[in-house]
Parts: sequence; C-alpha cells; structure tokens
Amino acid sequence: MEKTFNFNLNGKTVRVTTSPERMLLWVLRSDLELTGTKYSCGEGFCGACTVLINDEAVLSCQYPVQEVNGKEVTTIEGLQDNGKLHPLQTAFMLHNALQCGFCTPGMILGAHNLLLKNPQPTSKEIVEAMEGYLCRCGSYNRIIEAIQTAAQTMKGQRS
Ligand code: FES
Ligand code: FES
Repeated sequence: MEKTFNFNLNGKTVRVTTSPERMLLWVLRSDLELTGTKYSCGEGFCGACTVLINDEAVLSCQYPVQEVNGKEVTTIEGLQDNGKLHPLQTAFMLHNALQCGFCTPGMILGAHNLLLKNPQPTSKEIVEAMEGYLCRCGSYNRIIEAIQTAAQTMKGQRS
C-alpha cells in the first residue's frame, strides 16, 4: 500500500506518495526527475547512486524511501550554492577527473562525505575511503588529485 513521505531535498521540502519499500534512487530519478543520481549495478557495489542523507553518504539503490522520512537529502544537483559550484565539482573539472562522467556524482558525494570526516586526507586515506566507488573509465589518479585540491580549497575557505 502506498504511503506519503516528507523529506528535505536539496533545501526544499518534498512530499512523495509511493510504496514504502521502493528504493530512494527510483523516487529521485523517476518521480522527482533528479537524474544526476545514477543507476549502475543496483546492488550496492559501485557507489554511482550515492546521495547524502543527513550528511552521510548512502547508496540510494539500497535505501527504502520510508527510511528517508523527515531527513535531509542532498543529491549532486543540490551541492552547488546559488549557482556557485562546490569546490569538489570545480576540482573534478580542473583535473579532468572524469571521462564518461557516469560515476562522477557518486564520486563527488562520496568525497564530500570523506572531507566532512577527514578534511585533510592523505592519498592513502582517500584511496581507502573511496574503495567502494568504481570508475569504469579508470580515472582514479585524477580523482585522487581532485579530492586533494578540493580539500585545500575548502581549508582556505575555513581559515
Ligand atoms: S547503483 Fe547503487 S551501488 Fe551501484
Ligand atoms: S568517468 Fe566513466 S565511469 Fe568514471
């Protein structure tokens, strides 16, 4: 049976009526037309569907919509601030840290989660933290560089 859920999505309250067991990924992509969140493996192995829920990285393909009720969700579309790209988005462009771009939204949100917990990670820490995020194009070295650059930019913004 369908139920109604309310949550904050990229700063705005949204209300959806759907099956409670439906995965958040499909609510975002199909119902709310936010296609930045990608569907790849659908089984929790690739990170392409990552979103932030209350600032924690979550695999939306594994996250029933009923669990999002009352929470704050950030997708890649919500990371910019009044049209100004987030330092991670800028750094990914600067370093060409993508090829096809399919993994990029999940990579950026995963990296965002990392930098919230560890604002100045070493390369090794980045590799470990990003282990669950797969890039079929093999842009890993540039992704690491981009995350390091974003960390420096964010450090400068804090001081
Ligand atoms: S699509 Fe969710 S982890 Fe791969
Ligand atoms: S840039 Fe193509 S999958 Fe990562």
